[in-house]
Amino acid sequence: MHVTVVGTGYVGLVTGVGLAKMGHNVICMDIDHKKITALRQGQIPIYEPGLQELMIECLERGTLQFTSDPSYAYQYANLIFLAVGTPQHPDGTANLSYIESACDTIAAHLTESALIVTKSTVPVGTNERLRARMAKRLPTGIEVEFASNPEFLREGSGIHDFFHGDRIVIGTENEKARLWLQELYEPLEIPMFFTDVRSSEMIKYASNAFLATKISFINEIANICQKTGADVEAVARGMGMDMRIGSQFLKAGVGYGGSCFPKDTNALVQIAGDVKHDFRLLKAVIEVNNQQQEVLVEMAENVMMLTGKKVALLGLSFKPNTDDIREAPSIVIAKRLLAAGAIVRAYDPQAMGNMKRVLPDLLYTSAAEEALQDADAAFLVTEWKEIIHIPLKRYVELMKTPRIFDGRNVYSLQEALEAGVEYYSIGRKA
Ligand code: UGA
Repeated sequence: MHVTVVGTGYVGLVTGVGLAKMGHNVICMDIDHKKITALRQGQIPIYEPGLQELMIECLERGTLQFTSDPSYAYQYANLIFLAVGTPQHPDGTANLSYIESACDTIAAHLTESALIVTKSTVPVGTNERLRARMAKRLPTGIEVEFASNPEFLREGSGIHDFFHGDRIVIGTENEKARLWLQELYEPLEIPMFFTDVRSSEMIKYASNAFLATKISFINEIANICQKTGADVEAVARGMGMDMRIGSQFLKAGVGYGGSCFPKDTNALVQIAGDVKHDFRLLKAVIEVNNQQQEVLVEMAENVMMLTGKKVALLGLSFKPNTDDIREAPSIVIAKRLLAAGAIVRAYDPQAMGNMKRVLPDLLYTSAAEEALQDADAAFLVTEWKEIIHIPLKRYVELMKTPRIFDGRNVYSLQEALEAGVEYYSIGRKA
């Protein structure tokens, strides 16, 4: 099979490399010439553990190619994966202009009938609309079929998730498309769920919205725990032992971020609104998350004056093992600290380059310990291994006042007490 993957962002790259590793002949297509040139030389534009090594292996083996030439990418393609971005419009709706323009280019270059598989997250009904749009533009005799195949990869563990995901969802009403995709994915031995296109599109939004709900729920419980003297870590553990609840995504913290949950929850509220359904629950989830990103600084403001104080901001990416700072809680926290007049020294193992473009006013250090030197407070925002492994005694040795506002509940209250650190965390006693 000739497989083309359109879009070399996070999803497209992982998908292209994963399929090439499986032995398929894959062409990754992107309109960004510079990016394609770098990828051909084995350089990837994002930090994703294991991706670059696997990509180089596939390039050397010849199963993976990169191009920005649409005729090369689409001419002989039987199977085309759409993995272009669907970012957020200011009103929260999904911007489909990239995916529409990719479909128009495909229609202009196809010389054989093909199956188009949508990996990009798109509102319910989009695949049908794209199919109708392409039908008007295709040369006579050439036909396309569409299938929805939403992506559940997590940043930071994308390669693992490609080969060991919990499920592969395929939405199609076309028997031939179903068989093709079944054959393509069978070697992965991941359970496949076949359904209609619209349900498949909705599964993606519903899954992300549900995970976001779990996080906002536990964050609300955390805030109540704090006031009632309960401990959210114990509460989450006790809840999670119930198989119906499950222990994952019950980690209280500074709120969710990233390129997916904030965008997809907003889009689902809009999708519901379009059919006159007020998705009150999801609106509350979003509101809780927005407030949760402020909690750590509010805690600090209750116990210290931030004006003129040196503070260390440890961890900037929206979660560990990625350099992605999109919608990262660290941005909200950093802006509030700056607004309060604090001198913010920031450190992250991978995300400082990206953060410098968004917040040039922070002072960036080359190590966590440098940020902690003589500081009056430390804010732990992202639980990178490198950050959570800093022994508490180093805080005592390095800081002017060993005071930690821990947004990820890294340390136990007991160890903090024993180390002599003034310690504030989420959903636990101060
Ligand atoms: C998420 C989903 O988990 C993937 O299945 C999905 O494919 C992806 O979005 C997407 O739509 O493309 P991702 O955004 O990479 O993946 O990251 P997650 O690991 O889900 O974490 C999202 C956010 O939730 C992070 O800010 C994380 O810190 C936060 N989180 C997660 C918590 O605050 N508590 C938890 O218990 C779990």
